[in-house]
Amino acid sequence: MLFDTHVHLNVAHFDQDRDQVIKRAQEAGVEKMVVVGFDHETIPKAIELAEQHDFIYAAVGWHPVDAIDFTDHELNWLEELSRHPKVVALGEMGLDYHWDKSPKSIQKEVFKKQIRLAKKLNMPIIIHNREATEDIIEILQQEEAQTVGGIMHCYNDSPNYLTACLELNFYISLGGPVTFKNASLPKEVAKEVPIDRLLIETDCPFLAPHPYRGKRNEPAYVALVAEQIAELRGLSVAEIAQVTTANADKLFKLTRS
Ligand code: NI
Repeated sequence: MLFDTHVHLNVAHFDQDRDQVIKRAQEAGVEKMVVVGFDHETIPKAIELAEQHDFIYAAVGWHPVDAIDFTDHELNWLEELSRHPKVVALGEMGLDYHWDKSPKSIQKEVFKKQIRLAKKLNMPIIIHNREATEDIIEILQQEEAQTVGGIMHCYNDSPNYLTACLELNFYISLGGPVTFKNASLPKEVAKEVPIDRLLIETDCPFLAPHPYRGKRNEPAYVALVAEQIAELRGLSVAEIAQVTTANADKLFKLTRS
């Protein structure tokens, strides 16, 4: 019973064999996943996949790299789509200082607009962070994002920022990099995150775990992420699977009585 909290089965990398990839995920024990949309093409596709499969949910948000293309039209569109019963979070959203397509000031504005929308809708948010940790934390604090909380997707920072993230009611999601031999930070984080705030993900097709590093990633490989974290924490894979799935159910409000 694994929950892959961040997949991009909605991108062209999976156009040739999407059904087989989904089947392999189920065979590997993936019980649920969230397909994350981030632009005009991938958002409708995320919802379409969620409509086709009981165990697939969708998240809708606008990627910071494309912040410059975000207008009121997109904001209203996200609000409309968020009412869909299978949409469980807003995102991914955040800041990305690696690419310079969108100026920082515009990225920040678009990020704030999406946080405000999430608060209006009372939905958790999924954060994309690239080289922008301090600005992201500052904006989340200013906007009082702790009222909705969310996920630090593919957390790739020093454990020093964990306290601030946890105080903001965020979960810490770890993916393929925790399995890389030379990746000391994600391994430290895997040991330090309180277990009730830990999530796992693939971010497929990107960031495939060892021994598939550099190849196309897929949800079945989230089992390798769970195995690595179990080893680091001295727990069984079943325990990590059980607790991360329960955490995700709680965050996405999927818990059934
Ligand atoms: Ni992503």
